[in-house]
Amino acid sequence: MSSLQPVRGTRDLIGDDQRRYRHVTDTARHVSGLYGFEEWQTPIFEDTGVFSRTLGETSDVVTKEMYTFTDRGGDSVTLRPEGTAAVCRALVSNGLTQSLPLKVFYAGPMFRYERPQKGRYRQFHQIGIELIGPAEPLADAEVIACGWQILTALGIAESVTLEINTLGDTDSRTAYRAALVAYFTRYATSLSEDSKARLERNPLRILDSKDEGDRKIVADAPTIAAHLTPLAAGFYDSVRNSLTALGIPFVENPRIVRGLDYYNHTAFEFVTTQLGAQGTVMGGGRYDGLVRQMGGPETPAVGWAAGIERLAMLIAEPQGEAAPIAVIPAGDDAEAAAFGIVQQLRQGGIRADIGYKGNLRRRMERANKAGARAAIILGSEEAARGVAQLKDLVSGTQSEVSLDALLEAVRALPAGTPA
Ligand code: HAM
Repeated sequence: MSSLQPVRGTRDLIGDDQRRYRHVTDTARHVSGLYGFEEWQTPIFEDTGVFSRTLGETSDVVTKEMYTFTDRGGDSVTLRPEGTAAVCRALVSNGLTQSLPLKVFYAGPMFRYERPQKGRYRQFHQIGIELIGPAEPLADAEVIACGWQILTALGIAESVTLEINTLGDTDSRTAYRAALVAYFTRYATSLSEDSKARLERNPLRILDSKDEGDRKIVADAPTIAAHLTPLAAGFYDSVRNSLTALGIPFVENPRIVRGLDYYNHTAFEFVTTQLGAQGTVMGGGRYDGLVRQMGGPETPAVGWAAGIERLAMLIAEPQGEAAPIAVIPAGDDAEAAAFGIVQQLRQGGIRADIGYKGNLRRRMERANKAGARAAIILGSEEAARGVAQLKDLVSGTQSEVSLDALLEAVRALPAGTPA
């Protein structure tokens, strides 16, 4: 019988992959905590409307990538493709719209039916933060600063560039939209089918097209700068000034529109050249209209999310756990006493293990292979006398230690890793 394989675009996290995943989430959880973000968990699937109504009718995520199905009760549900809409839904359904500002951190799996490649999966994982309530541009700078500090703590700030843009307010976008329609209409016959369809419904999306032909046309398209209202221009100025004051380096990229439609004012991405085509490690922006779309009151908000897999590929190998202590019974009749010792060490906070099978030599070999810091060897005669041999696997020295003093003797071992 052929063996079952993981579904295309999904991965098992084992060994180094899991250590990297955990290091990224632990670091993000810790740093976002310094900024006052509190962790939320929302369900992995939601009513389809949570996403289809808010992410953009013409966005790739909604038109091509959602895992949507009808459940046995006849309801349409969708595996979450992102976290922001879900957090806003949770804010409204839990009656928290009067408890603002709120700072939310989340980490977990997301699902998009995309073509899998390096750094792009169908089940991937995000860390993200959402700052809900403040309308001030300082809030945009704060969430970017938190992202920057996480990237710095992960040791990859040097590998990424922060690119920022503004999508303006509603009036700016209405004016810009008209300018884009006028521009793209001139090239309508040369645009890709997708972009033609977007021309009327959402011309901003064309700026984000991956089609080679479209990109040439997009290169000379007007930017939003000339269409910003004084209010939107002032907002963008303040964000840039705050970032500069905080010492966070950035470049402006007027082509950033983001793949989801809920953004206004600030849009930003941390990008790298080290991951090939999937170079965006963290992306976000302001989304002042989303909570209202979810049925709540008008509520400003700003946030970002980052792909854990992409971050995990950029970081250095995380440090493993401390080297374990191997407890080795010499002979079957010492087995029970050895098991008592291993439990005593664990209860004393020491990482310790006991092999289940094999003679002394085999078990010693396995202890070395596991990178054990030291071995405690226990024969039945020694067990009867209340002693054991403690062998330091770094220095090679061995000494007899009373069982009562074993925990202390293990704690007193100098730090070191076996060769
Ligand atoms: P997004 O740009 O769609 O934004 O995704 C954020 C990040 O998730 C990307 O920059 C990328 O690192 C990662 N990502 C996306 N799709 C995949 C995939 N198929 N495989 C691996 N990684 C992927 C959002 O999701 C917004 N909710 C961000 C946000 C939060 N905006 C405001 N608050």
